[in-house]
Amino acid sequence: MLSLFAPPRIRRAKSINADRIKPFSISGSVEGHLEGMAESQNQSQHGMWSSGALFVLAAVGSAVGLGNIWKFPYITGENGGGAFLLVYLICICLIGFPVMMAEIMLGKQGRMSPINSVLKLAHENNRSSKWSLIGWAGMVGGIIILSFYAVIAGWISAYIYQLFSGAFQGADGGATGEAFKKFTDSPAQVLLWFTLFMAVTIFVVARGVNKGLEIAIRICMPLIFVLLLVMLVYGILQGGFWDGFKYMFHVDFSKLKLNGLLVAMGHAFFTLSIGMGAIMAYGAYMPQRESVKSAVSVIVIVDTLVALVAGLAIFSIVYAHGMSPSDGPGLLFVTAPVAFGNLPLGSIFGGLFFLFVAFAAFTSAISLTEPAIAYFVEEMNARRWVVALVIGAITWVLGVGSVFSFNLWSDFQPIFGWTIFDIFDKLTQWFFLPLGGLAIAVFVGFFLPWQKVWDYLEIKSQWARYVWVALISVVAPISILVVFALTIVQHFAGG
Ligand code: TRP
Repeated sequence: MLSLFAPPRIRRAKSINADRIKPFSISGSVEGHLEGMAESQNQSQHGMWSSGALFVLAAVGSAVGLGNIWKFPYITGENGGGAFLLVYLICICLIGFPVMMAEIMLGKQGRMSPINSVLKLAHENNRSSKWSLIGWAGMVGGIIILSFYAVIAGWISAYIYQLFSGAFQGADGGATGEAFKKFTDSPAQVLLWFTLFMAVTIFVVARGVNKGLEIAIRICMPLIFVLLLVMLVYGILQGGFWDGFKYMFHVDFSKLKLNGLLVAMGHAFFTLSIGMGAIMAYGAYMPQRESVKSAVSVIVIVDTLVALVAGLAIFSIVYAHGMSPSDGPGLLFVTAPVAFGNLPLGSIFGGLFFLFVAFAAFTSAISLTEPAIAYFVEEMNARRWVVALVIGAITWVLGVGSVFSFNLWSDFQPIFGWTIFDIFDKLTQWFFLPLGGLAIAVFVGFFLPWQKVWDYLEIKSQWARYVWVALISVVAPISILVVFALTIVQHFAGG
């Protein structure tokens, strides 16, 4: 009979990755044996990335997603171009960078699900178990984000087919706008594509770290980079590059309002996938010898570069057809299809473009369930695929609320005139992400011994140590708190 629960023996045996234990650990020498033990304790029971590079690729996969391709370009354009970019880069360096280091470090030291990793470190350092709330919030937040993220990814998937089939040949903005409305108005269509996207995500996640996540990452990431460059070259060849460049990089400080500042920080969290335990879960599978600080440097730089190049590509294509960029969903689903529908070989390149976006969304989606799946596998000793199915089902049910927010339930706006989709979006963006990031910074900055953290992070020089402490215990928490407070005041106090 197929058992839902794994016999503990087998699980434990599987968790020790035989080829990572040094050969002499079996030879009988006591030291060798201890070394072997120490290494095996540094493994996660869920599996390990097969190399440091794979961890970086997986984390980049999580970071690069709809946030980079869909959101970043237009918030940059809207909020003063180069001026906004400057603020955004400052947020990434002063807040995103240290918080990401802290989050990955917690996973790498704990080697378990975010909840249990934080719990373990809290206990080891005689701190309250309540800190594991970081993991709980991340787990719940990750599922909520995935529930609406997968709805948009479903739209994207539907558009791959639409573009390749030439549905937008010669279309104008009116036609694509109507097509988009007709599509989102149809609960059945949106539900179908959302369900498909969720099914593929859960299928891959259920197969585990090495046979699922890692294979998906190995296949998708090279394709994402190639397609991104193809889009940029296509955009340049169509002749809209310079206009796109000016739209994104013009420096207009008068357009940079307080709101732009808030948007910049919120986006820094979202785009780097931090604050939610997702990157902590990935960190738990990171090889011991891989350095956190170099990994984070690469992840942050690549994520930012992808956002910039994607923006340049999109705006070049949009301007090539003499249009101006629109914001929000309109940019990808209304404006871009017009451009592709009227440019040479537009159907092929349009289809490829949406394929690129779908892959990017997919490698982000698979990171969002990992905190929950790892936790329930650990706690209930259940098989991974069973947990994955249950988490998938819960996410799907939540997602149905977002699917219907655009049609059947569009009038259901329980608070502040927000649909279910809006509520999930704002709840995570405004509360879960910043507060999760704040808790991580405070825990690492104030409740773990500095010396230990410096050692974990391999920060050796004295000045770098103080810069680190200043960032994680002062700069990051205070900036997050200020921005969080301003966001709440602005949106809820009628400001
Ligand atoms: N970073 C992804 C994007 O830019 C979204 C994402 C994936 C995410 N995992 C996350 C956001 C965890 C917050 C937390 O599209």
